[in-house]
Amino acid sequence: MDKIMALSKRRGFIYQASEIYGGLNGFWDYGPLGAQLKKNLRDAWWQDVVMNPANGALGPDGQPVSIVPLDTCIIQHPKVWEASGHTSTFNDPMVDCRETKARYRFDHVHVYAPKGGAPTDKPFFAFVQGTPSEAKQKKKAEKAFGEVEVVALSEVPKERWERVLAPDAEKVGSLTEPRAFNLMFKTYVGATATEDDVAYLRPETAQGMFVQFKNVVDTTRVKVPFGIAQTGKAFRNEVTPRNFTFRSREFEQMEIEFFCHPDEARGWYEFWRQTRLAWWKSIGLAGENLLMREQTRDELAHYAKDGAGTSDIEYKFPFTAPGFGEIEGIAHRADFDLATHQKHARAKLEYFDAERGELMPNGARKGERYLPHVIEPSAGLDRGVLAILCEAYKEDPSRASPELLLLNPRIAPIKAAVFPLVQKEGMPEIAANLHRELAGRFARHGFIEHDPKQAIGKRYARMDEAGCPYCFTVDGETVTHQTVTVRDRDTGAQERIAIDRVSGFLAEKLGLAG
Ligand code: GAP
Repeated sequence: MDKIMALSKRRGFIYQASEIYGGLNGFWDYGPLGAQLKKNLRDAWWQDVVMNPANGALGPDGQPVSIVPLDTCIIQHPKVWEASGHTSTFNDPMVDCRETKARYRFDHVHVYAPKGGAPTDKPFFAFVQGTPSEAKQKKKAEKAFGEVEVVALSEVPKERWERVLAPDAEKVGSLTEPRAFNLMFKTYVGATATEDDVAYLRPETAQGMFVQFKNVVDTTRVKVPFGIAQTGKAFRNEVTPRNFTFRSREFEQMEIEFFCHPDEARGWYEFWRQTRLAWWKSIGLAGENLLMREQTRDELAHYAKDGAGTSDIEYKFPFTAPGFGEIEGIAHRADFDLATHQKHARAKLEYFDAERGELMPNGARKGERYLPHVIEPSAGLDRGVLAILCEAYKEDPSRASPELLLLNPRIAPIKAAVFPLVQKEGMPEIAANLHRELAGRFARHGFIEHDPKQAIGKRYARMDEAGCPYCFTVDGETVTHQTVTVRDRDTGAQERIAIDRVSGFLAEKLGLAG
């Protein structure tokens, strides 16, 4: 992972936020290549979800899938978060160490105790799994007890906590009682900044879509089943941001709220599970590093307890391997959200479905009024970018660039590069013209680089490292035969094509032909 982070910084994909001030834990900025990579991923989602849902596949009802976009505010009425449950339930219980001032997630702290619960007057050695404290405390515990066993701190009776030695502490009994720590960032709306003016930065984009459900139904021609989709920033004051951008405090989501009749929810849940998995594969995450995992009943979020289930699409990141980390969740939220907003806002959010209900003598349907169920495919854009970078990263000591990014051409921030082989014999002028032509056609999809200097091998190596899929080189034969070489990043192989075919060739490779 360290190598991927180093390359990300070196080539301008991802920088630490506020780096010149020492950085801010849990915040990351995207550099020039990262900003374009992220935009390309967001655009691909938008194209395949909103503009051409499921790439034109029919839904389980045999009809085309209908989705409309939305763009709602980061700051919503504070009652939105009361209704959604975020004010009361969006928190992690934490324990603090009075001695070291460190804060730990309660459920992450375990202790080494004597095996079989043998009585002891020695300390229990607390640690956090996967951190250096684990080995350090184990060594001390084995010295004290011989054979040891691991017990969750939550299983240690409170009266024994005064004998627990916290990670890195010197004295026992320094851990506080667990306290709830709300993950929403608080702010104030208006100049007076009193407690009456408290508002929150949204912890998910989803709620804006539920809150505007009625407006969308009333002002557009959508009919259930249909979806609302949006992308945007979300903020969570994560207790332990970590693993590069994987757990950040500011991140971007790409969410769909798909509204359907309760009887059809299971079919749509299956549909979105398959569709979303296929999508991540289509943009370069195919293979054994990607899987779909059905959550167990205990794992289900409060809003998904009554539904058909929740599945996570997970990627094997270098820091989770051999385990996997979630990049998207697909949840059947039943009517939890519309019902709760209907109750808290005292607004009627039921949908009148004229095509359902009893068949009347005149052949028309009586209609049915109901709260639609929701299937929510909720993806993380930053986690998507991170998974794509990890998947694309390859080491090949035999190449001029021993590290390279095999990015899917559709997502790659640099689409192509144009080089004159040498700076003479009319090559620079031809290369500049070719670059202008390609930039005119493809620049809205990504960068078209023009690099006239340095040895050609070095220029190829720079492009490999940045994930540029194609390099076109103008050489002596271009001047005489109007052909250029095209070099394929993945194989390093070169072929010659006519210079007037370059634009068509690139369009085809980027899936933009026709
Ligand atoms: N509306 C449902 C919802 O927000 P979630 O599982 O909490 O569900 C959805 O979040 C996605 O957002 C996750 O699959 C993940 O990709 C991304 N995400 C969540 N927390 C994140 C964090 N702290 N940093 C980066 N991405 C995060």
